[in-house]
Amino acid sequence: MSLNVLVIHGANLELLGRREPEIYGGTGLEVIREAIEHRAERRGHRVSWFSSNHEGEIVDELNRAVGKVDGILINPGAFTHTSIALRDAVLAVAVPTIEVHLSNIHAREEFRRRSMLSDVVTGQVTGLGATGTVLAFDALLDLLEGKSLPEAKHAEE
Ligand code: DQA
Repeated sequence: MSLNVLVIHGANLELLGRREPEIYGGTGLEVIREAIEHRAERRGHRVSWFSSNHEGEIVDELNRAVGKVDGILINPGAFTHTSIALRDAVLAVAVPTIEVHLSNIHAREEFRRRSMLSDVVTGQVTGLGATGTVLAFDALLDLLEGKSLPEAKHAEE
């Protein structure tokens, strides 16, 4: 069974590696993309990659995904804290969804502690940097494949 996973990055994340590296790390988005695409390919799945600074474009992409994707990995950037539209769009797709943040949003400014998505997603990975995004992708594939430890594929490597 080949799965189709939508990976979304929101505002300012194209600047990863150059933007506040002391908070977000030195790894660029292209490196994260390569790692995720490599993992998907090795496991026989497909990735639809989408990155935008525009909230409405992300909503459009999520609307297009209805009935077409099996799971979603999303780092909405600052839209995390403000966007009811993104929350509703994720709910509309109605597939397992993991929210990721490079930084630990609970250990920063008060306004970052609230996520509009946290209670409608399957799970959240926050504070583990670029590695966390890739780990979250592995975890999403395990979940969608119906695997749990010890037979989960990445656990064998
Ligand atoms: C972020 C955390 C957000 O608060 C911030 O606005 C971002 C990145 C993260 O990955 O840590 O742009 O989502």
